[in-house]
Amino acid sequence: MTSNVQPLPPLQIGEYTIPVPIIQGGMGIRVSANRLASAVANEGGVGLIATVALSLASKHYKKAKDYYRANILALADELEMAREKSPDGIIGTNCMVAIRDFEAMVRASVENGAQMIVSGAGLPLRLPEFTSDHPKTALVPIISSLRAARLMARRWFKLYKRLPDALVFEDPNTAGGHLGAGRSELYSKQHSMEQVLPELAEWSLKEYGDEIPIVTAGGIWDRADIDHALDLGAKGVQMASRFVCTHECDAHENFKTAFLKAARGDVVIVDSPAGLPSRALKTPFIKSLFGGEEVSEKCFASCLSACRCRDEEKAFCIAYALHKSQQGDMKEGLIFTGSNAVRHTEIVHVRDIFEEITGQPSPMRS
Ligand SMILES: Cc1cc2nc3c(=O)[nH]c(=O)nc-3n(C[C@H](O)[C@H](O)[C@H](O)COP(=O)(O)O)c2cc1C
Repeated sequence: MTSNVQPLPPLQIGEYTIPVPIIQGGMGIRVSANRLASAVANEGGVGLIATVALSLASKHYKKAKDYYRANILALADELEMAREKSPDGIIGTNCMVAIRDFEAMVRASVENGAQMIVSGAGLPLRLPEFTSDHPKTALVPIISSLRAARLMARRWFKLYKRLPDALVFEDPNTAGGHLGAGRSELYSKQHSMEQVLPELAEWSLKEYGDEIPIVTAGGIWDRADIDHALDLGAKGVQMASRFVCTHECDAHENFKTAFLKAARGDVVIVDSPAGLPSRALKTPFIKSLFGGEEVSEKCFASCLSACRCRDEEKAFCIAYALHKSQQGDMKEGLIFTGSNAVRHTEIVHVRDIFEEITGQPSPMRS
C-alpha cells in the first residue's frame, strides 16, 4: 500500500513504545474484552480489556455470591485469550476506582500480565501500591482537570517515588460512559479539550520534561481529530466509541446495530447510580427511565462502592442494565456512548479503522 498520509509519531508510555499512538478506551461489562483488545493491539495500538463486571457473561458466574471471585477468573481468561491472539501487541486493562473490587481487579491484571492499567471513575491514588511487585506495568490515571493531574503526580511521587507513566485527559463534553464533571458543568469551555489539553501539556513539559505524556480522550474519530489533538499538545489519543461498530467488538450485534440506527438527538445524559452523569444512547430502556417507569432489577452484584440503587433503592441497577445491552437486549439495556455515536455507518474491521487513520498496514505485520 502506498500512502500520502504522514506517519503518526509513536507514543512512549513507561517502557512501552506504542507504534500507533492510539489507546482503545476500556468499555465496561464486556464491550471491550479479549477480541477487541487483541485486534487493536495487533494494529499497533494499545488494547484494553475493561475489568468491570467481566464475570457476568462468563462461565464463572452462577449466582450473586460468586460475583467477585468470578470477576477475577474471568479477567484471567480474557487476558490469556488476548495474549494468545496478540502475542506481540500491548494489552492492558481498564480498572474503575468506583467499583468495589477495584484493588482485586488491579492485582489480577498485573498478576495475569497486563502491560498497562488505565484507571478512572475516581482518582487511583493507591494504584502504585497495588502493583508494586510489577514495576514494568505502565500506570495511567484518567483525569479531567489540571488540578487532578497535579494532585496525582504529587501524591504518587510523595508516597511511592513514582510518577504516572501517562495521563489520559477525558473531555466530559464528548466522552462516553461516566463523566468527570457535574451535570451543570457539562458543555462548558472550562472542561473542554481545547482549554484543558494545552494547559496539561504545558504543565507536564515544564514540571516533568517528557516523563508524563498526555493522552486525550473524548470525541476522537478520524485522523483530523488526532492531528488536532496532537497540535494541542497530546502525545496520543484514547478512542472508544469508534471501535464499537467493529466485527471484533465483544458486544452483541444488536448493540452495534443500535449505533448504526442512532439519529441526531439520540445521545443523552443520564444520572448513573454512581452519582455521576454519564453519556448514553437513547434505547427503549432510556425512554422508560425518562418516562419514570420501573426499569431494572434490584441491585444483584453490589458492584459499586457508592450506589443509589443498592443504598437508597433509587435509580436503577447499572450492572444489570449494561450487561443486558451487551447481551443484545435493548428493552432493558443501557448503552454508553461518546458524542460521536451517530457517525457510524457500517460495521468494519479494526484493521480498516487503523488503515484509514494511518494510511499504512499495521507496523506489527511488517
Ligand atoms: C460503551 C462504553 C463503555 C465505557 N466503559 C468504560 C469503563 O468501563 N471504564 C472507563 O474508564 N471508561 C469507560 N468508557 C469511556 C471510554 O473508555 C473513553 O474514554 C471515552 O468514551 C472516549 O470517548 P469516545 O467514546 O468519544 O472515543 C466507556 C465508553 C463507552 C462508549
